[in-house]
Amino acid sequence: MQAEACTYVIFGATGNLSRVKLMPALYHLDIDKRLPVGTRILAIGRRDWDQATWLNEVREMLQAKLGEQFDEKRFKHFSEKLHYHRGDILSSQCYSELSKTLNEDCYSKNMAFYLSISPAEFGEVMGHLSNQQLLKEDYGWRRVIIEKPFGYDLESAQALQKRINQYVTEEQIYRIDHYLGKDTVQNVLVFRFANIMLEPLWNRNYIDHIQITHSEELGISTRGGYYNSAGALRDMLQSHLLQLLTLVAMEPPVSMEAEALRDEKVKVLKSIRRIPKEAVHAHAFRGQYGQGTINGEKVNSYLQEQDIPPNSVTETYAAMKLYVDNWRWRGVPFYLRTGKRLAKAQSVISICFRHPPQQLFHDTQIQCLNPNWVLLGIQPEECIRIEMTSKEPGLEMRTRTSSLDTDFRHGHEKNIEAYENLLLDVLQGDRSLFLRFDEVEYAWRIVDPILQTWAIERDYIATYPAGSWGPMESRRIFDKDSHSWRSSLVPECK
Ligand code: BG6
Repeated sequence: MQAEACTYVIFGATGNLSRVKLMPALYHLDIDKRLPVGTRILAIGRRDWDQATWLNEVREMLQAKLGEQFDEKRFKHFSEKLHYHRGDILSSQCYSELSKTLNEDCYSKNMAFYLSISPAEFGEVMGHLSNQQLLKEDYGWRRVIIEKPFGYDLESAQALQKRINQYVTEEQIYRIDHYLGKDTVQNVLVFRFANIMLEPLWNRNYIDHIQITHSEELGISTRGGYYNSAGALRDMLQSHLLQLLTLVAMEPPVSMEAEALRDEKVKVLKSIRRIPKEAVHAHAFRGQYGQGTINGEKVNSYLQEQDIPPNSVTETYAAMKLYVDNWRWRGVPFYLRTGKRLAKAQSVISICFRHPPQQLFHDTQIQCLNPNWVLLGIQPEECIRIEMTSKEPGLEMRTRTSSLDTDFRHGHEKNIEAYENLLLDVLQGDRSLFLRFDEVEYAWRIVDPILQTWAIERDYIATYPAGSWGPMESRRIFDKDSHSWRSSLVPECK
């Protein structure tokens, strides 16, 4: 679909997200000729910069991110689209000047406002845009892209929604969860709904439990201010990991259109059993990294990071058990976990099948009868792996785990960053990979009891050494002794 020309107005253009994700994504889209003719990118910043300084700044962002792939000639082409508008986004003057600028003929009247700013400022910035009539669609479409987190709990999310409802319709809002822009995440749907083989098995009759793991080697870097008030549960679980869960658990949608897809995702979130406050400890576990070693290097504890108060009990590791109470999934535990400064950086969905009804080989030399697993490697290994038990060649009756493997990407196929997909979808008016408000609302309903309990338990948090797989005690959320965290894509023999 060829999109119409558009003006991308980026709030927070000098911030970290813009440096690392947005500008590189727009640059790549420009190289691939996916930005429609007439597209302009207007950065809003507080610093007193002129156009030349801004261009230098963007050049440095891209060089830092792309290294040798940066190409000065391509940058020249891209830079013709770049503009800078100086202003304080919390003052109304910024918006009267912005309105004048955007009225100039060179700017398309289709406008996307990207709010890559502190969540506390979303409402105010949209209020200012609305006061200047910049969100009215009289002369072109107007869309607002809102970064996560949308609120910090259910109540604040509802209050924010109520406020922005005064300025825009739901159709104008693009709530980002960048995981949905990842190719391998979209592949979960293709794997499930473009193949028939596994679908009959994809339910409580055959699946024992499901694990969704996102682990990072990195710590919180310079994001202490944000992270300490968010924590792992808000930062990753409420958003990205619950979205992955919906894709694994949802029913086939009637079509791939935005509303049909989102209806099915909401049904999953609605079916998730509420965790009563008294059961929080049986369903959730939190931890914080201490000092340790990552890739041979000694690293600081969370409490030694920049901007972290010495008595912080913010979690950098969170694990949660959920049940989806519907016909397909009743009784199957979904274990979700995420953490910073863990042993390995990876995102994997691991589906563990039940054992066959009869252990026919138990009087033989078979030591290790592993269940079947389906592993969906999201990153960095992008794969689909199905583990089966097969006979070892030879006179004895011994078995081993073999895997049927497919790499997601062939050698020459390039990796598209999630933000490229999403920024393009905004231009094309396709909201299927963005969150509808009820998705956000139900996601908060799920984690709110945990957040509330943790908020009052301020005396103690378990710690784990950086470079480990997190606190051992997180095992307490498992339903059965036979369950354990699966951390590897390589067959594990017990
Ligand atoms: C962001 C979180 O939304 O996702 C970060 O705020 C986290 O804390 C990041 O590191 C992970 O994204 P990705 O794409 O690197 O897996």
